Amino acid sequence: MILKIFFWVILLKLALSTSDDFTYNGFKGVNLSLDGLAGITSDGLLKLTNASRHAMGHVFLSVPLRFKTPQDNVLSFSTTFVFAIVPEYPTLGGAGFTFVLSPSRDLTQASPNYFLGLFNMTDNGNPSNHIFAVEFDTWDSPEAEDINNNHVGIDINSYISNKSTPAGFTSDYDGKFKNLNLLSGEPMQAWIEYDGIEMQFNVTLSPLWTPKPKIALLSSTINLSSIILDHMYVGFSASVGPSYSYHYLLGWSFKMNGAVPELNLSSLPPLPQNMASIKEKAKILSLWLPLAFLGLVLVIAGAIVVGVRKKKFSELREDWELDFASNRFSFEQLYKATRGFKDENLLGIGGFGRVYRGVLPASKVEVAVKRVSHESKQGVREFVAEIVSLGKLRHRNLVQLLGYCRRKGELLLVYEYMPNGSLDNFLFFEDKQTLDWDRRFQIIKCVAFGLQYLHEGWDQVVIHRDIKASNVLLDSDMNGRLGDFGLARLYDHGAAPQTTNVVGTLGFLAPELARACKVTTSSDVFAFGAFLLEVACGRRAIEPNKQEIEQVLVDWVFANWKMGMIHETKDPKLGEDYVLEELDLVLKLGLFCSHPMPSARPSMRQVTQILHGDVPLPQLLPCQSHFSESRRVVSFQKLHILDLVAIQCVQLHLGGERLFGGSTSRNDTSLIPNGS
Ligand SMILES: *[C@@H]1O[C@H](CO)[C@@H](O)[C@H](O)[C@H]1NC(C)=O
Ligand SMILES: *[C@@H]1O[C@H](CO)[C@@H](O)[C@H](O)[C@H]1NC(C)=O
Ligand SMILES: *[C@@H]1O[C@H](CO)[C@@H](O)[C@H](O)[C@H]1NC(C)=O
Ligand SMILES: *[C@@H]1O[C@H](CO)[C@@H](O)[C@H](O)[C@H]1NC(C)=O
Ligand SMILES: *[C@@H]1O[C@H](CO)[C@@H](O)[C@H](O)[C@H]1NC(C)=O
Ligand SMILES: *[C@@H]1O[C@H](CO)[C@@H](O)[C@H](O)[C@H]1NC(C)=O
Ligand SMILES: *[C@@H]1O[C@H](CO)[C@@H](O)[C@H](O)[C@H]1NC(C)=O
Repeated sequence: MILKIFFWVILLKLALSTSDDFTYNGFKGVNLSLDGLAGITSDGLLKLTNASRHAMGHVFLSVPLRFKTPQDNVLSFSTTFVFAIVPEYPTLGGAGFTFVLSPSRDLTQASPNYFLGLFNMTDNGNPSNHIFAVEFDTWDSPEAEDINNNHVGIDINSYISNKSTPAGFTSDYDGKFKNLNLLSGEPMQAWIEYDGIEMQFNVTLSPLWTPKPKIALLSSTINLSSIILDHMYVGFSASVGPSYSYHYLLGWSFKMNGAVPELNLSSLPPLPQNMASIKEKAKILSLWLPLAFLGLVLVIAGAIVVGVRKKKFSELREDWELDFASNRFSFEQLYKATRGFKDENLLGIGGFGRVYRGVLPASKVEVAVKRVSHESKQGVREFVAEIVSLGKLRHRNLVQLLGYCRRKGELLLVYEYMPNGSLDNFLFFEDKQTLDWDRRFQIIKCVAFGLQYLHEGWDQVVIHRDIKASNVLLDSDMNGRLGDFGLARLYDHGAAPQTTNVVGTLGFLAPELARACKVTTSSDVFAFGAFLLEVACGRRAIEPNKQEIEQVLVDWVFANWKMGMIHETKDPKLGEDYVLEELDLVLKLGLFCSHPMPSARPSMRQVTQILHGDVPLPQLLPCQSHFSESRRVVSFQKLHILDLVAIQCVQLHLGGERLFGGSTSRNDTSLIPNGS
């Protein structure tokens, strides 16, 4: 007790000797240290992020505050702030933001995207970070083991929360818990309090103008003394991935040792209103009113134009699509975005159709628009339902699907734009720039993660069906992202096959596909194996112009491995720049994944563990004759036949019966979301 009193006395003294409390009702003219996307608007709003993607912003008090007594006890502190998160799409925002205590105000080494602007792959989880943060997280990241895409959590040196809970508050009025949607765009107030003696930590949240609820949202007992250093910077960080949110702070107050000063809610700056621009338009319109006659002429002329436009921008819309309205783009939007699908906007032509680069007119979002011809009406509904539900798949190693549009005989799919194009461009061309080994190994790990997520990370198993270097895209940081997932399934729903790439690509089709016409996760693993070899050997899985023994990459690597010269197959463009152990691992893992027996292949979870060195690669010990026996089935000539068989499988299916199981789902074979 005496000790406690003594401690309090010291605390009091310290409290008196420092002026570590401040109140900002709006941030006009406030001297803070900002970086990245952060800025203060002319209204005095503090903006942590803006409409940029794959980026972050930080705000810190310019001077560090003293958080410990000379006896190394952590001081109590409390803070409150009002924030609003305004997302790009109603349900899809950036990663979220945090209130953070950090030994340094330079967190620019953190990765943007999903790390909340606090950590990167290397330093995540490192006790020497000395970072303590409260996250307001709007992204459901499987790697961060997030509970949902709308939660509050405590992060200690890692973006995997120590404790987290869905956003909301317990009403003082009826004692019931009420959810709050962080992405609602509405201002909310948060309180964060730490009692240095009891070591108790509370986070409380409420809608603006609601008094602080008596029951805290998140309570935890944490000994901060090894986490917090003597002096720490206080501030906020936020990050955004493929879709952005504006993260705004309207006001902030902070106090060491004592109750935090109240914010004056009526003097906080207003959030920007889209209404302003609508009002502006109304004003312009009213100018025209006196000129009624001219107006009439315009209306007639307009009607003609509209008639022509209507035809040009006509779409196919059916009643059942109402459910998917928020995922639907208008053709006019996409037409304008791609400047009329001009050739100079053409990014590529694939088995599924042409892909165009575009910039959405209103939001200036860069997108890739894929035009897929789709004559059959049969199965469209299921496919659209699938596409929409696939759009809910979010992972930093997948290319995000943003929505769709439908016209007569055509489906348009809108994806996040990947500025560095597809991986095959960097691998297979002598004259072009190539990728160093580190980058290649990194991309392999990315794709493995993405595929593992498709197979296991969701409540339904999603089978990609067409993994290959040209379906791996590179984002602005040259990270690998798996694209086109679920598209191969389109053929189950009646799209016209344009090439032989029907249910996969020559050289990537697992032998059992031909025998049983059964698509499984292990046929994806087979293709992933061929992909690994493509990356390590810098050549395509099938090269008909090579001499016979080299034509099929898997066969060639296998033959070399048997002779103990597997390294001879490495990409000559790598020169001496590679890590022998990693190259060895990738080549052998490639063979392991492409094992002719599906049951002998690893799962994607095992693959990622092996790639990260958590689990050693099992000894490749094929019962030699068996391995090569089955291998022979996949020899080049036969592959042509396999492909034809595969085509027939699809056509049989179109004939009515579902031969292609498609997704071997844990719950259900269909990808259609329940209840929609
Ligand atoms: C802001 O604060 C920093 C650190 O105290 C100081 O160096 C700088 O001069 C201040 N800037 C303004 C405009 O007051
Ligand atoms: C966001 O802010 C940064 C830094 O102030 C600026 O460079 C960038 O252009 C802004 N982006 C958008 C889309 O406004
Ligand atoms: C990760 O951040 C640390 C500092 O926190 C920095 O030293 C390191 O270089 C960063 N790593 C990468 C890959 O950016
Ligand atoms: C949370 O932090 C406490 C104290 O630092 C630690 O004992 C506990 O293991 C952590 N829990 C998790 C899930 O990280
Ligand atoms: C945390 O909240 C609980 C009630 O939820 C309260 O009893 C406790 O005093 C609070 N602690 C702090 C440090 O505010
Ligand atoms: C808190 O942690 C510090 C350092 O880890 C330790 O010295 C101290 O005894 C702990 N306090 C309590 C009350 O457990
Ligand atoms: C709060 O702000 C309003 C508007 O700026 C002002 O009129 C009022 O006096 C302020 N209240 C307090 C308690 O400072």
